[in-house]
Amino acid sequence: MTIYNFSAGPAMLPHAVLEKAQAEMLDWNGSGMSVMEMSHRGKEYMSIAAQAEADLREVMNIPDNYKVLFLQGGASSQFAMVPMNLLRGGNKADYILTGSWGKKAIKEAQRYCEVNVAFDSSAESGKFSTTPTQEQLNLSDDAAYVHYTPNETIEGVEFPYIPEVGDKPLVADFSSAILSRDLDVSKFGVIYAGAQKNIGPAGLTLVIIREDLIGDAIDGTPVMFNYKTHADADSMYNTPPTYGWYLAGLVFAWLKEKGGISGMAEINERKAAKLYAAIDASDFYANPTEVKSRSIMNVPFTLANAELDATFLAEAKEAGLVTLKGHRSVGGMRASIYNAMPEEGVDALIAFMAEFEAKHA
Ligand SMILES: Cc1ncc(COP(=O)(O)O)c(C=O)c1O
Repeated sequence: MTIYNFSAGPAMLPHAVLEKAQAEMLDWNGSGMSVMEMSHRGKEYMSIAAQAEADLREVMNIPDNYKVLFLQGGASSQFAMVPMNLLRGGNKADYILTGSWGKKAIKEAQRYCEVNVAFDSSAESGKFSTTPTQEQLNLSDDAAYVHYTPNETIEGVEFPYIPEVGDKPLVADFSSAILSRDLDVSKFGVIYAGAQKNIGPAGLTLVIIREDLIGDAIDGTPVMFNYKTHADADSMYNTPPTYGWYLAGLVFAWLKEKGGISGMAEINERKAAKLYAAIDASDFYANPTEVKSRSIMNVPFTLANAELDATFLAEAKEAGLVTLKGHRSVGGMRASIYNAMPEEGVDALIAFMAEFEAKHA
């Protein structure tokens, strides 16, 4: 039976990528070594690392004045690295709050500076289910940067536009949206993402940073938390997460083969549209997010009768549809449908949902 894994992360990887990794597992390219066994400073590994970066630059169209860093520590480390490196003498930052991960980013930033919450989408309802309009943003004149979360993984809330922030660096936690559709990198100061959704295995963290923002970290910043350390050493200051970097490279090459990000975006839009349409057409399922802010990567939904949740999950699992449980903080279900989720997986979920409704409604 084909298993479709709807996990929010670590998430599905493209089957073709796993097969290539399997084929190369014991002997990469005639080297007689697994990639895992290679010195990160050896000729073979350096070529793998450089190719991965070149392919990412190509698929994302990353301008030359941006560094691409392959780090560790997860997106959660970036919650600290961003203020440590980007305050640059200032003591205030703007944060747009639209979900649980943004909340964590704010909490960490408050250890280093004053945080102006430029918008809190939970202020009225107590829930994160929408995104602000540009006019609703209460940005401050003296903020060193503006941070937001383009896609909130837990609530399934995605920004339908890139906020306009004047000459302030815009910093974005793209963990669950990177590579899902075309992006104008030049609009950002820093883009960061944990790899375990759309990039590769957990353990790798990607940072794309405009060069002029590097080199002015606050006093006392640990060497490993200073972007300059990693930029100067091409992410090889210490031992990088070599295997994750290699696998990410295979994913970038796969993306290129699939028509790049625009090819992938078309499929992603279609997958999300049909799943939301199925939810909207039924009285048995519901999605709590305002339509304009619906995520194309994470689709949360509830059952009209929450007492059926456990049965839904058990029967879905029997049908090969796994990890559909919503985040413990919001309950219900969540289908994460990243790039590696084939359209057939979404079709299978929709068919199962209809059958389940017919049986239990
Ligand atoms: C939007 C977002 N930010 C941050 C994180 C935390 O990432 P990490 O586990 O890599 O620290 C996640 C993880 O799921 C996420 O979805």
